[in-house]
Amino acid sequence: MERLKLTEDGSHSLLNSQYNQHYHSVSGALKESRHIYMNLGLIPVLEAAEKPVRVFEMGFGTGLNAFLTWQAADQYQKSILYTGVEAFPVSMEEASQLNYEDVTSFNGFLKLHKSSWFENHQLSEYFTFRKEQLTLQEFSSEELFDVIFYDAFDPKAQPELWTEEILGKIASQTCPGGVLVTYSSKGIVKRALAAAGFSVEKHKGPGKKWHVLKATKI
Ligand SMILES: C[S@@+](CC[C@H](N)C(=O)[O-])C[C@H]1O[C@@H](n2cnc3c(N)ncnc32)[C@H](O)[C@@H]1O
Repeated sequence: MERLKLTEDGSHSLLNSQYNQHYHSVSGALKESRHIYMNLGLIPVLEAAEKPVRVFEMGFGTGLNAFLTWQAADQYQKSILYTGVEAFPVSMEEASQLNYEDVTSFNGFLKLHKSSWFENHQLSEYFTFRKEQLTLQEFSSEELFDVIFYDAFDPKAQPELWTEEILGKIASQTCPGGVLVTYSSKGIVKRALAAAGFSVEKHKGPGKKWHVLKATKI
């Protein structure tokens, strides 16, 4: 499969040729997902949680972040309700070539891809999974989320997904004190997040990447 990319930590990623963007850092897809979305974003919230944690992901993509979220729910034995949006789903053929079960020593990866859209799926005692096939611009929800994985392609490829307006929409769906994590630490992203109502902190990035962002809803 020409889109498949082996990243430096031995985990796979994909290339999106329309935007000429990889789905993850080529320095290590798993390393990046664990560093930013798990260790900086989800895990501190999960450790402190006394009720189910609601996670929203912009860009379900390969399902790596969703898979690690499921693994964390089971490991911590704490309930997580995950919702991801994805406008351009990867095919089952592509998903079945990704080596995420091998690199995480965790099973069930393809259940994420085989699950029907727009329905909740109880994939384990602790993990409820939902994905919606639509654009972020079309997404709306009654509920507020505790943790946001903001994993759109780079602002230079998709500037429309990093505006104050769209991040304001995300802010309106984040509970007070909820956290958003993202790999981009560009100035326009920091400013748009601050204008949207988040308090923004820079953190050290994975591997060679200098900085990533964690933003807390005020
Ligand atoms: C950086 S990748 C996400 C990687 C993903 N989190 C993972 O673990 O594999 C960005 C994703 O956003 C999706 N996407 C692009 N534009 C979108 C939009 N307007 N609404 C929803 N998803 C979009 C792409 O198809 C792609 O899957």
